[in-house]
Amino acid sequence: MCGIVGGIAQRDITPILLEGLKRLEYRGYDSAGMAVVRTGELQRERAQGKVAELEAALTRRRLNGRLGIAHTRWATHGKPSRENAHPHLSSASVAVVHNGIIENFEPLKARLEGQGYRFHSETDTEVIAHLFDCHYRAQPQPRHAQEARDTLLAAFRATLAELHGAYALGIIHCEHPEQLLCARMGSPLVIGVGSGEHFIASDPLALLQVTDRFVYLEEGDHALLTAHTSDIFSSGPVLQGEQSGTIRGCGSSAPLSNSCYWQQAERPIARFEHGPQAASKGDYRHFMLKEIHEQPEVLVDTLADKLTPEGTLLTAVLGPEAAELLPRVKQVQIVACGTSYHAGLVARYWLESLAGLPCSVEVASEFRYRHVAVQPGTLFVTLSQSGETADTLAALRFAKSAGYLATLAICNVPGSSLVRESQLRLMTHAGPEIGVASTKAFTTQLAVLAWLALVLGREQGRLDEVELAEQIAALQALPEQLRQVLELEPAIAELANGFAEKRHTLFLGRGAHYPVAMEGALKLKEISYIHAEAYAAGELKHGPLALVDDAMPVVSVAPSDALLEKLKSNLQEVRARGGRLINFVCERAGLEDEEGMRNFPLPKVPELTAPILYSVPLQLLSYHVALVKGTDVDKPRNLAKSVTVE
Ligand code: AGP
Repeated sequence: MCGIVGGIAQRDITPILLEGLKRLEYRGYDSAGMAVVRTGELQRERAQGKVAELEAALTRRRLNGRLGIAHTRWATHGKPSRENAHPHLSSASVAVVHNGIIENFEPLKARLEGQGYRFHSETDTEVIAHLFDCHYRAQPQPRHAQEARDTLLAAFRATLAELHGAYALGIIHCEHPEQLLCARMGSPLVIGVGSGEHFIASDPLALLQVTDRFVYLEEGDHALLTAHTSDIFSSGPVLQGEQSGTIRGCGSSAPLSNSCYWQQAERPIARFEHGPQAASKGDYRHFMLKEIHEQPEVLVDTLADKLTPEGTLLTAVLGPEAAELLPRVKQVQIVACGTSYHAGLVARYWLESLAGLPCSVEVASEFRYRHVAVQPGTLFVTLSQSGETADTLAALRFAKSAGYLATLAICNVPGSSLVRESQLRLMTHAGPEIGVASTKAFTTQLAVLAWLALVLGREQGRLDEVELAEQIAALQALPEQLRQVLELEPAIAELANGFAEKRHTLFLGRGAHYPVAMEGALKLKEISYIHAEAYAAGELKHGPLALVDDAMPVVSVAPSDALLEKLKSNLQEVRARGGRLINFVCERAGLEDEEGMRNFPLPKVPELTAPILYSVPLQLLSYHVALVKGTDVDKPRNLAKSVTVE
């Protein structure tokens, strides 16, 4: 989704902003723009399409300045176009970049139009620029530097007080070439700390070329940055003796009250732990391929703080409250979106079979609007790679007051909103995932969920020491087995050649491999644009069998488990109708290649780890089909990496 970069430095900021935008391209966008302040004037350039278009525009008309903001836009209000691209300006003095949605933009727009402001875009963001300008003009004229700072902050706070919705914001004013304003509410924003310079970004990856030190702003924070200083303020009820103030507004009918209170806040500086290479493809052609191949390694990293090499479960990683909460868990509610939802569906099988805990799994966009009946003792679990998915966050916020026993986030981004707002947390240490198609985030989520099922199984007295030791050994063996599976890549790449012209595909699985098939289908459709559907294989004859003919490949996930023989019967149903099968199958399943049936043998592994292992060849299949089709593998059309709006 939209990306923000900005900065105040002692050098020309434009190359830093441009590089930052390139690093944000993976998030998905449709236009880009930049504004800088130079000698008391705002300069702006925008382009529809890729950052390369903006770069080309900037070679024709060079911008130069030490203070600037830039943006990649993913359209919500108003079509993708140059006019709707950010930054948006007001009175040629104020420039604004914004991620999120301003829900009350229509009444604000009507009021500002009544005050004489002219709008040049269809966006909700433009109201912020005019509102800020309006509030700025309502302040007393500053006579010296301190007053100028106070004026900016007062106008900013008055603006924020009127906005309803979600935002990460960067604002600059041409009369203040040393000051950058920013704020976050519902959309992530970090401050990058350089040497004699400060930056802002919606994602630290945008700034790794200039710093590895970041301050993660919290919900409701706003800040004023100069090259050498960063003053951060949190909003909330004023405590006695703390800095606070009243706001001089500009024609608002509503009182600028509660949200206007603020206090200076201390936020720690965190070092980005993965190093600058985390955001580079290295020798790989695509991020997705790199991320597929990183899976053995990141599984080791993910389990390292949860299991000793001797096989002891390290439950302290759940946090200090866990010891008291875990024995009280009676059931589990999992909520997530997309690939993370599929991980939750797999986990349901584990939690019910290993821990004996009833488990429901639901997509966050539905859950958040449902009247849920909460059973006592229900642990509420959210799964998310980014920790910023709007629907998942909204579901968590709803759950916090709905009577759940506790909230647990399983997430890949340590400072994310989901992690900060959950009571308990488990991190997947997958490292930054840049490809829009989730791969290593999925398998590390599964590893953490398998670990959680073992922890809860022990807690519930459902797993004895011997069984527990066997399951833990299965988890520990996984990275090596994944390396073996990755060796299937050349054969899968060859298969992909004949696959790319297909228009529809069916994925089949049973038990915990039904959601693995769902994930395989999602991967194929999102990056190759081939229509793919997943079915529980037993459902075939209840409808989808009608689709089967020799033009539609049927991909099956066939590990050696209690349902293998049943699955084989379902595969016969496909063969009998002339369907062409591609089976990812246990090497000991006894399936032989024949005309219309191709088998890819995988090692025999325990039931716990099979869903993780069998996900990998499906990722490789999608990748290679997309490669043959020539689609944009890492940035598929219409999609964004982190879905921060509803
Ligand atoms: C899958 O490849 C997609 N990236 C998408 O379905 C994703 O899993 C979903 O948007 C949820 O994202 P999250 O894990 O960051 O919450």
